[in-house]
Amino acid sequence: MSAQHAGRAGQTAERPERKSVFSNDLVERIEKATLRYPDRKAALIPALNMIQRELGYLNRDAVRFVAKQLSIPESEVYGTASFYSLLGWQPTGRHVIHVCHNLSCSLLGAESLIEHLEKKLGVGEGEVTPDGRFSYARIECIGRCDGAPAILIDDDYHGNLTPESIEQVLEQYT
Ligand code: FES
Repeated sequence: MSAQHAGRAGQTAERPERKSVFSNDLVERIEKATLRYPDRKAALIPALNMIQRELGYLNRDAVRFVAKQLSIPESEVYGTASFYSLLGWQPTGRHVIHVCHNLSCSLLGAESLIEHLEKKLGVGEGEVTPDGRFSYARIECIGRCDGAPAILIDDDYHGNLTPESIEQVLEQYT
């Protein structure tokens, strides 16, 4: 090993401990979630969901943090997190609109709903409105085809929408 790589004799290179950006409250809530399952790994999705609610999105720190908290390899955390479309990797608005564009919703007007939404919000998919209020994304079937075209805003379902009625729905979210 060269002197450059060896460092000073008798000293080991130690990285300073990185301070977690995640609150104690979040750590406690994740720990509490693990108690609901026989295997703490099963709290993976609830933990990712809690972080998304706290930060607005997931990132590399979130993956590392959850991997450490639940003793799961980071690759497994990332694999799960990237599989679910309700978990996101981009900053979002205070309210996230998920518009279903699957078959039933498309046949009953999802595309014109999306077109209207983009005009009304003035943003494209994945972008945040200038006031930080909304962002929107397309999503696959949310299991409410009987109310197509359907959307989710945060955790709330809204169905049988038209370009006119979606405006009234948006007014409920500040
Ligand atoms: S296709 Fe839209 S809810 Fe099923």
